[in-house]
Amino acid sequence: MIRRVRVRAYANIALIKYWGKLDEQKNLPATASISLALDSLVTETLVTKTKEKRDRIELDGKSADRTTAQRIRDYLELWRERKLLDGHVRISSANKFPTAAGLASSASGFAALATALSELSKTNIARSTLSRLARFGSGSAARSIVGGIAALPTGSDPAAKMIIEADQVDFGMVVAIAGDSAKKVSSREAMKLCKTSSPYFKAWIDQSKRDYKAMLAALKSSDFNTIGEIAEANALAMHGCILATRPSIVYWNETTLALIELARMIRSDGIAAYATIDAGPNVCFICKLTELGRVLKRVSNTPGVETAFIAKPAGGSEVIEWE
Ligand code: PMV
Repeated sequence: MIRRVRVRAYANIALIKYWGKLDEQKNLPATASISLALDSLVTETLVTKTKEKRDRIELDGKSADRTTAQRIRDYLELWRERKLLDGHVRISSANKFPTAAGLASSASGFAALATALSELSKTNIARSTLSRLARFGSGSAARSIVGGIAALPTGSDPAAKMIIEADQVDFGMVVAIAGDSAKKVSSREAMKLCKTSSPYFKAWIDQSKRDYKAMLAALKSSDFNTIGEIAEANALAMHGCILATRPSIVYWNETTLALIELARMIRSDGIAAYATIDAGPNVCFICKLTELGRVLKRVSNTPGVETAFIAKPAGGSEVIEWE
C-alpha cells in the first residue's frame, strides 16, 4: 500500500478564460476555457497518510492560513465522502512562483493534490475522472491534470481534454510580475460578484462562446496571430466585466496598464506578442518560442516590473516518487 507520494503539476494560463460559475456546489464553469500549461509555474506536493485524527496542511514551508486550510480540508472531505480516501493526511506543498497573485497557483496546487490523492487511493482513477475531481478544488486545476493546450468545456460534469500535446506547441509566454502580493478579492468571490452585479456578465458569456469556437479553429490551423488576438481580446473582455461589478474590482495597477501598452508597441515593431491577464496585476505575453528572448528583454526593461521570466509549454501532472 502506498503511504507517501510526491507529485508535480504545472499551472496553466488560459487563452480563453474561465470566468463565472453555473453551479457553485459542483464548481461548474459558466464559460468553456482553453489554456497552456507552463513549465516555470510548478508546484511540488508531498502527501503522507497519517494516523492522526486531523489533516495537516503546510504551504511553502508554513502552516496554511485559516481560509486556505479550510478550503483544502473541504476538498479532502469530498474525497472521503466518495470513498476515495480513508483517514487523514499530511500535505506539504511548495509553489515555485508567487502564490495567489493571479498566477493560477490554485490550478497547479489542486492538480498536484488530486494527483497525489488518486495515487494514495486504492482505486484506479482514469485521467478524465481525475480532471473532474481536480475541478472541484479549482476550475483551472482540471486543465493542469491534462497539460499542454487543454480545453475545459461547460456541461453537467465536465473534464478537461487535451487539444495539443506540450511538445507540439510552438509558442510560450513571458510572465511579467507587476506586483506579487496576494490578491484582495479571490477569483471565487469576484466571479460571484460579477454574476450578480456586473451589467456586462451576459455579454461576457456570449462573447466567450464565440471566442472559444474561434480559438479552437485558430489552434487547429496553427494561426498564431489569430490565437494571440483572440486571447488578448478575451482577457480584456473578462476584465471589462470585472471592472463593472458593483462595488468595482480592479485587479490592475499602473504597471499592468504599461504592459498592455507594451504588447501593442512590441507588435508595431514587428514581433507578434499578445497580452493576457488573470485575476491579478501580472501580465503574460504570448509569443512564438523563437521570440521569447526578445520579448523578455523588452518586458524586463519596463518600469514597475519586479521580475519577468520565460515559461514554455509543459505536460500534465505527474508522480515523482512514492513509497
Ligand atoms: O481556477 P480558479 O477558480 O482560480 O479560476 C481561474 C480564473 C482565471 O484564472 C482568471 C481564468 C482561468 O481560466 O484560469
